[in-house]
Amino acid sequence: MPKLNENYQNLEESYLFAEIARRVKVYEESHPDNKIIRLGIGDVTKPLTKKVIAALHEAVDEQAVPETFKGYGPEKGYDFLRNAISDYYRRNGAEVDPDTVFISDGAKSDTGNITDLFAKDNVVLVPDPVYPVYVDTNMMDGRKIVYMNGTAENNFLPMPDDSVKADMIYLCSPNNPTGACYNKEQLKVWVDYALKNDAVIMFDAAYEAFVSDPGLPRSIYEIEGAKKCAIEFCSLSKTAGFTGTRCSYTVIPKELVFTASNGKEMSLNEMWNRRHSTKFNGTPYIVQRAAAAVFTEEGMAECMENINYYRENAKIIADVLKKKDIPFTGGVNSPYIWFQCPNGMESWEFFDYLLTHAEVVGTPGAGFGENGKYFFRLTAFGQHESTKEAMRRFDGLF
Ligand code: MLT
Repeated sequence: MPKLNENYQNLEESYLFAEIARRVKVYEESHPDNKIIRLGIGDVTKPLTKKVIAALHEAVDEQAVPETFKGYGPEKGYDFLRNAISDYYRRNGAEVDPDTVFISDGAKSDTGNITDLFAKDNVVLVPDPVYPVYVDTNMMDGRKIVYMNGTAENNFLPMPDDSVKADMIYLCSPNNPTGACYNKEQLKVWVDYALKNDAVIMFDAAYEAFVSDPGLPRSIYEIEGAKKCAIEFCSLSKTAGFTGTRCSYTVIPKELVFTASNGKEMSLNEMWNRRHSTKFNGTPYIVQRAAAAVFTEEGMAECMENINYYRENAKIIADVLKKKDIPFTGGVNSPYIWFQCPNGMESWEFFDYLLTHAEVVGTPGAGFGENGKYFFRLTAFGQHESTKEAMRRFDGLF
């Protein structure tokens, strides 16, 4: 009989968004004619842009003839895409060597799989509230997890506590779920803490394209010293509507070298390269061609039109919350709006209430940790009309 990974017993029975989908399905089955509005999972509603579609068509046609057909590609991703990403970083104020960029199928996969590089007895520091993938994947490995409180008092931006010694630190900015965004000074404090403690920061920048304030950092590599302590994860899901198309990139600087217990120096870049080429056969060629179209100036301008559309939704949601005097974070520099549940309700209670009384789906804060118990998240990724209708229903509830 195989011995099982019993750490799975410590996980919640189902993944947050799977549990939401289950509850919505049950409600939908008993109310088949009603129009449920989904502002729960952060899934985009705008189709792929024209440049992306043109690149996809062209790449599909290339696959149809022997002269241009592509089979297995480089596991790290094609140079044309890694160079385009490096140029994109440069335009945004950070230098990233294309050789440190790894193309993948999603930031969820990479933030989860990166744990393969680290021993099980590392101490992991995560904010609470937190994107559940960081916690679940470390729990699967049985690592010790220390939480740092994100609360209204610290604007959901916890800062390091020198009395806590961590080896692996997860930060997400703009934050999922709270929408809060670290400024450069705050990120510098995190980088200094990591360097002092010989720790590694796992920086999730999946929402960087939503930063509208030019003073706020979009990459941790805008901070001095970050290349010596930080891995960055980025995704085209929210930037370019690739939630169904699947493409992401992870940056692992060559400066990230740590000493193994036998005294050998080990590079995280080389380890990830080894891991990636062993367990991953690369992102599809046609998807990488589509992704490269995103990083041209014209391609990005098209994506920004969609992002601006979502920003208007965020404003629609924020305006109703303001009108009702409900405190919230996010919505600016972020597609998520995070607010306190009305009338002292707990978040799953409010989830059920909103679903059954307004037929609107959101995400209960408790799914992101203890500090989310009385909070709720709405996404700005819906369509204008349905977002307006959802907020009209919300407005009529209290
Ligand atoms: C979310 O809603 O938090 C995200 O869409 C989930 C994800 O990116 O995996």
